[in-house]
Amino acid sequence: MDHPPAESSLPQLPQLPQLPQLPQNCSFDASDWHILSQFWFPVAIAAELGHGPIGAVLLDQKLVIYRSGETIVVADDLCPHRGVPLSMGSQDGDGIRCIYHGLHFGPGGKCDHVPANPDMGIPPRLNLKTYPAAQKYGLVWTRLRAPEAPDHPRSAIPTMPHWDDPGFQQINCPSIDIGGFAGRQLEGFIDVAHFGFVHLTTFGDPNNTVVPSYVPVTNEVGFSVDYRSSVANYPIGVESSAPEGFVWLRHFEVHLPFTASITVHFPGEARLVVMNCASPMTSRQTRLFCPIARNFDLHIPVEAVHEFNRRVFEEDRLVVEAQKPEFLPLDPTLEAHISADRSSFAYRKGLRAMGFSPIFAA
Ligand code: FES
Ligand SMILES: [Fe+2]
Repeated sequence: MDHPPAESSLPQLPQLPQLPQLPQNCSFDASDWHILSQFWFPVAIAAELGHGPIGAVLLDQKLVIYRSGETIVVADDLCPHRGVPLSMGSQDGDGIRCIYHGLHFGPGGKCDHVPANPDMGIPPRLNLKTYPAAQKYGLVWTRLRAPEAPDHPRSAIPTMPHWDDPGFQQINCPSIDIGGFAGRQLEGFIDVAHFGFVHLTTFGDPNNTVVPSYVPVTNEVGFSVDYRSSVANYPIGVESSAPEGFVWLRHFEVHLPFTASITVHFPGEARLVVMNCASPMTSRQTRLFCPIARNFDLHIPVEAVHEFNRRVFEEDRLVVEAQKPEFLPLDPTLEAHISADRSSFAYRKGLRAMGFSPIFAA
């Protein structure tokens, strides 16, 4: 008769890392979510905080953001008492108060007042589940879990050129919601072949659509591109003050997975920087945050910049929301390519190297 093998002779199962639970109804492939959840993404405009809690969604996780004195708290948007969203509550002193039974949450998401039982001890289970919060470029950034490679430059908040430089004006445009995947949106931002077709009411020139050759250069966070062309960057209707034959340099910095900036070199030392921070709410919804820095036209009201920026991204939004498939194909055989797509090719290659699925966010 066979005896069961002694415990020590059983094959050892590999130790699997402890992965956090996915959010309810997660719209991402589990492995893609686990990679994405390690990166910083913006979830709110800092100046909009303070009057009351703000609700947000990041990677399908519902969040509440509130001010507590000088600090900002990002937490699950769920009261630990009876599950009411805290974003329905109100700002109260150095924290927020739940709309249902009035529990108060202060610094660090700690519950510090239970109106129904004010004299009883407060169990730690009433504290909120919080996430790190950082303020940069006028935005509140967070990440859902600690990165596996904390020292990797990509694990840091992306860098925006010139934001802190003297002489530069800092502008925070209102966010724009897009019914599409962040990867598709970001790829559109770095695409240089669509200006003369999509941006016809803002800055594109239908008579100047040839894309001169350019070369993406890989770096630790993604890649950069110097794109030189004769396409001007003045709004349509504004007379060009560039000298005849001026070559426009557009310098792109891509920080994988979903952030990029463009620095437009105007004549002389004038510079315009637009940062495209595509925050993935779900695999089909993106909130676009867009800090801008510039060292010219400082007398023009920022509302005019907000409006022009909104119109440019609105032109893009219509295209991104119509693209099929909705996911971003990282397998090069799934879409056809042209030579002008070098940035798109570098982008998809970089994402693939990070381990995302060949059909990213299917
Ligand atoms: S559900 Fe929030 S206080 Fe009861
Ligand atoms: Fe565009």
